[in-house]
Amino acid sequence: MEEGSMRHRGVFLALLITWLTILSITRCQSICPGRCLCRLTQLPRTIECSKQGILIFPENISNVVEHLDLSSNRISEITNEVNQLIDLQYLNLAKNQLKSLPNNIEELRKLRRLDLSDNLIANTADIASISQLPSLAVLYISRNLLPDLKGLTSEVLQAVDAGHCLIKVFGNESLNGLSALNTLSLAGNPLKSIQIPVSETLRWLDMSDCALNYLNPDTFVGFPELEELRLVNNPTLVYSTRYSTLEHLKLKKLDVSRCNLDRPGLHGLPSLTQVRLSHNTIRLLPDRIFIKNRQLTHLYLNSNNLALLNASTFEGLIKLQVLDLSANSLGEIHKIAFRDNIDLRLLNLSYNSLYRFPYLSSFITTLDLSFNLINYFRANSLEDLSRIKILNLKDNHLQSLPRGLNSKTLRILDVQRNRLVELHNDSFTELPLLQKIDLSGNRLTEAMDPNIFQNNLYLITVRLEDNPWRCDCMQLYDTFEYLMEPPTKTVRSTLICQSPANVSGYSWEAACFNEWNTNLYYPKDRTWGMVMISLLILVVLCGSVISIKHTLKIKRRVLEQRRQMELAEERERLRRLQRRNQRLEEIEALEAPEEIRINPLELVGPPSYEEAVQMQRLVHSMDALNEISIENGTLRSINSMDNLRTKKRRTRRPRKRTQSEDDLLRREERRQERIRRERNNSSGNICDTSQLHNTNPRTSSVRRARRHSIVDETLESSSSKDRPRPQTPTSKKRKRRYVLRNEHVTDDEDSDVQVMNSNRSIVIKELKREPKSGYRESFMERES
Ligand SMILES: *[C@@H]1O[C@H](CO)[C@@H](O)[C@H](O)[C@H]1NC(C)=O
Ligand SMILES: *[C@@H]1O[C@H](CO)[C@@H](O)[C@H](O)[C@H]1NC(C)=O
Ligand SMILES: *[C@@H]1O[C@H](CO)[C@@H](O)[C@H](O)[C@H]1NC(C)=O
Ligand SMILES: *[C@@H]1O[C@H](CO)[C@@H](O)[C@H](O)[C@H]1NC(C)=O
Ligand SMILES: *[C@@H]1O[C@H](CO)[C@@H](O)[C@H](O)[C@H]1NC(C)=O
Ligand SMILES: *[C@@H]1O[C@H](CO)[C@@H](O)[C@H](O)[C@H]1NC(C)=O
Repeated sequence: MEEGSMRHRGVFLALLITWLTILSITRCQSICPGRCLCRLTQLPRTIECSKQGILIFPENISNVVEHLDLSSNRISEITNEVNQLIDLQYLNLAKNQLKSLPNNIEELRKLRRLDLSDNLIANTADIASISQLPSLAVLYISRNLLPDLKGLTSEVLQAVDAGHCLIKVFGNESLNGLSALNTLSLAGNPLKSIQIPVSETLRWLDMSDCALNYLNPDTFVGFPELEELRLVNNPTLVYSTRYSTLEHLKLKKLDVSRCNLDRPGLHGLPSLTQVRLSHNTIRLLPDRIFIKNRQLTHLYLNSNNLALLNASTFEGLIKLQVLDLSANSLGEIHKIAFRDNIDLRLLNLSYNSLYRFPYLSSFITTLDLSFNLINYFRANSLEDLSRIKILNLKDNHLQSLPRGLNSKTLRILDVQRNRLVELHNDSFTELPLLQKIDLSGNRLTEAMDPNIFQNNLYLITVRLEDNPWRCDCMQLYDTFEYLMEPPTKTVRSTLICQSPANVSGYSWEAACFNEWNTNLYYPKDRTWGMVMISLLILVVLCGSVISIKHTLKIKRRVLEQRRQMELAEERERLRRLQRRNQRLEEIEALEAPEEIRINPLELVGPPSYEEAVQMQRLVHSMDALNEISIENGTLRSINSMDNLRTKKRRTRRPRKRTQSEDDLLRREERRQERIRRERNNSSGNICDTSQLHNTNPRTSSVRRARRHSIVDETLESSSSKDRPRPQTPTSKKRKRRYVLRNEHVTDDEDSDVQVMNSNRSIVIKELKREPKSGYRESFMERES
């Protein structure tokens, strides 16, 4: 909203300006005088015609002009035309040949600044018309021929520069017509005498470069509001004697540099805050000399002849912040000389004759001790300077820095152009906040160990130029590295070798390029190479270990797969056998044992029982094997051998053989039945047990279990497979079937096992003795 209105106002203003411009064109024809530079579209609207050799005040100047510069021409007269410039605020007529102003300039109602300096005005009466200017604030009439300011009248004029005129007398009525004057410069006038001029409003007065001689104590009583007085370079000026001194109650700033003062003489000026007494001839500063100047904050006493400071010289200056005692002849400073100056920040003691680091107790932050003769500097010198930040010791005579120089606050240490030959490894260890150190222009030859800066964590600049470096490249390398690592602490081109002769004048870098690139970079490279190689080795090792593991795993898996496959094959074969068995049984059931239906291939396989019986016996070799086992004294091998055999039989012998066996057994059974019947007929009781034995599966299973346990006990060591299995219903059934099928052998078996239990060797002998038969086989089979 406001912005909008502003914009509206801006547009309106622009329109107005354009309209005025058009109006002026129609009214005056010419906007811009010849040889002038006009900028009338921007504020302030300016016409510049300086240094154009203009002789007469230009006609028909656009009356919208605000700043008109006609300086450095040769105008000798100003016509009444000037009255057309009703908007004029600043008129510069400096460096012309004017002798006067028109009598009537009252139309210049907005004129604020009028520069008539460096003209030929010889009398204030010739410019009296300035009194008609209602807005005039600043008038420059310096470098004219005015002998006095008397007659100059303006009720609004605030500042007059009347320097470098011919004013010799500053009379008691000089400023009578300037009732609003607050700033006056009379600098550079041949002013000798001041006759108590009066101005109720004057605050700033400059009478530098005059010829003032002596100022009475009451010289400025006519200026009750005077705050700043400049009297610089009045070479003979004295304002203070043993008995009296210049007095002013309100004067705040006084500059009396380059005068002829032999004492400060400030006790008549109690409001002073800043005093410059530089370049005088003050020799002595009596005790408590500034005791009246309690407001003093800045005191410049540089370039005097001070030789001594007493302990109480600056007593009472409790607000003092800056004290410049440079360029004196001070040889010693009293330790408590600045005891009262609790606000002191800057103490400048440069260009004195101090030959040792002054013992000071102060809160200063900056201490300038440059250009002295200091050659002695104790480590605890900064102990009582508890806020020191900047210490300047350049251009002294130090040959070494103290070991363990101690300051918790020091940031900048300048020791350039001393006589330092070497740096100690502990010179900077107690300067934790050090940021910059200037060691240039000393006599350092050996590159310092970068570790000397190990405690200077904030260090950002180390200046080392102009030292006679001896370029031992191996030594320089670490230093160089340290200096160049970010933040770069030194300009590399400033590090110049002086010796050995063949590299004198070269930069460190140039001198040591080859060595640093062969001897020093190589070890680095080599270590890198080592690291790389060891890494590589590690990787290779890891890789091979992993791959070995992997292959092992694969192998294991392959083995597993193979076993699985074998198992599957086995199962398949078993299934086939079962199927075939079933088929055989069916066939048997049908009473049609047609062997043609059996795969001829299987016939080629293992021989039938009858065939086997007729075959040549293998007992001999088998027995030999058993004998070997006995010799070794282990039953295990036999068992394993037996297992082997069993397995072989089981895998190779088809069920067909059992079939044939069964035939045989059945025959045997019938025979025994016959015998039993015969016996039964004779004794009678045996049948019961036999029947019990045969018909009661429960007892038989119990017995078998017992038998099992016996067998287990016997063959404990043979195999875990032989351990009794929990009696699942299927296994029970299987066993029952098995028993039913093999019942004819149970008794024999039983006795056999019992025999075996009593003596293993007997069993073995039995085995040895026994021919290969179904009898033994059944035992083996049950076992598995
Ligand atoms: C100034 O304007 C007047 C009338 O408008 C004209 O006669 C005169 O020639 C002009 N002067 C210059 C220098 O253009
Ligand atoms: C100025 O001094 C003169 C004598 O030098 C004296 O006659 C005159 O009264 C003084 N004027 C004022 C205003 O003090
Ligand atoms: C400075 O003090 C000493 C005594 O400490 C004294 O003898 C001497 O006069 C004093 N100097 C000045 C200029 O006051
Ligand atoms: C101390 O004084 C000398 C000479 O007067 C000057 O060059 C230097 O800049 C001053 N030091 C400070 C810190 O102001
Ligand atoms: C400095 O060097 C000296 C031997 O010159 C050694 O005894 C001392 O421990 C070193 N100090 C530090 C801080 O490195
Ligand atoms: C300078 O001479 C020294 C032997 O005195 C040698 O080791 C070094 O490489 C030379 N430097 C150059 C830049 O020739």
